Order: sequence, then C-alpha cells, then structure tokens
Amino acid sequence: MNLIKNLNWRYATKRFDTEKKLNPADLELLKESIRLSASSYGLQLYKVFIVENEKTKLLLKDVSWGQPQITEASHIFVFCNYTTVSEKNIDEYLQLKASVQNLKIDDLKGYGDFMKNTLLGLTDEQMNSWTAKQTYIAIGNLLAACAELKIDACPMEGFEPEKYNKILGLNDKGLNAAVIAAVGYRSTDDKTQFDAKVRKSSEVLFKTI
Ligand SMILES: Cc1cc2nc3c(=O)[nH]c(=O)nc-3n(C[C@H](O)[C@H](O)[C@H](O)COP(=O)(O)O)c2cc1C
Repeated sequence: MNLIKNLNWRYATKRFDTEKKLNPADLELLKESIRLSASSYGLQLYKVFIVENEKTKLLLKDVSWGQPQITEASHIFVFCNYTTVSEKNIDEYLQLKASVQNLKIDDLKGYGDFMKNTLLGLTDEQMNSWTAKQTYIAIGNLLAACAELKIDACPMEGFEPEKYNKILGLNDKGLNAAVIAAVGYRSTDDKTQFDAKVRKSSEVLFKTI
C-alpha cells in the first residue's frame, strides 16, 4: 500500500526550501483533498485560507512563536472553523444536498430537524469546539495528500489564534483560526528529515475486543 510508504516518508518539516513553490496543479489536488474531507453531518463548517503573500506570512510568523516554516514554506493553509452554528448553515447544507442528490427539500426535513435539535442548543463554547474538531479531519487529509504527492508539510498549533484572527480579518466573518499547515518542499538543511519515526507500538496503541 503506497499510503503507508508515503506516511513513513513524510515528517513534520521544520525547514523548507524557499526557492521551491507548489505548482498550481498540485495546489488544486491538495485543495480537493480538503474539499472531499468527511465532516460531521457533512456540514463542513470551516473555511481554509491559503496564504502565499510574503508580507502576510511575515506578519503571521511573528505570532507563530517565530517558527521558520511560516515564511520558508511555499503556502500556509489556515483552517478556520465557524465560531457558531446557525439555522442558516444547516438550511444551506440541506439545499445543497437536495440539489446535488436531486431530492425534495421537504424529504430532508426530518434530517434537518434532527441536526437543528442537536446543534442549535449547544453553548457558544461547545459550538466553537465542535466546529474546530472538524478542521482536524481536513488537515489530516491534507497531510496524507501531501505525502502522496511527495510534498512536505508541517501541521502546526504553535501560533496565537486571536492574532491570526486579527491579521486575516476572521472575527468579522465569524471564523477562528483552529490549526494550520505549512506546505512546500523540505530544505536539504533540515536535519529532522533524518530522524527515525517515534510512534507507539501497535500492541500499546490498539486493543482488539
Ligand atoms: C495538531 C498538531 C500541531 C502541531 N504543532 C506543531 C508546531 O507548532 N510546530 C512544529 O514544528 N510541529 C508541530 N507539530 C508536529 C508534531 O510535533 C509531529 O507531527 C510529531 O512529533 C510526529 O512527528 P512526524 O509528524 O514528523 O512523524 C504538530 C502536529 C500536530 C498534529
């Protein structure tokens, strides 16, 4: 299985080659891997900002613990979760599902009501945390797609979300920076690439019952 080979190849890249940029075709494939991600109920309550502007990257590096990946990588993917879930979000999804699957909107009412009953009663904090979790599934797909394309990436939580929100104007849009990924090509100087993978053994990680 190539995926396992490629997951062994990938590593959280610390230093990127600043001369190497993603080509547009690969960028589209990476975006598609995110777009096709599973999400709870299929709602996809997040938006992904892709930063390639060097000045913006410089601003973001300052609020990312100064980590060099932010300015050295070709692109920074910022996964932004919706801070709240609204009835409108659910209705828009139902409209999309009805149109794509050629269904009558009335036939989806039961499903819609179920989602509304479950989600709209959550506190703001619960909604924010639930939508943020969805972004981690998407970033997982991005990491796997990068590995398949032999593109390097570093998933990152080492940044100040509130400052990202300010720099990228996310607050006004009801968005919050949850997790990010620096994407590009490893530098030959990055010593981390030679480190052995550190993972728990299968015996420790899994329990079959
Ligand atoms: C959610 C998440 C946040 C992370 N944040 C950072 C980070 O801010 N900076 C960094 O250099 N690595 C970060 N990492 C990388 C992990 O340290 C790395 O994935 C882990 O040590 C396993 O190593 P490997 O990915 O190279 O196999 C993060 C990983 C994940 C999944």
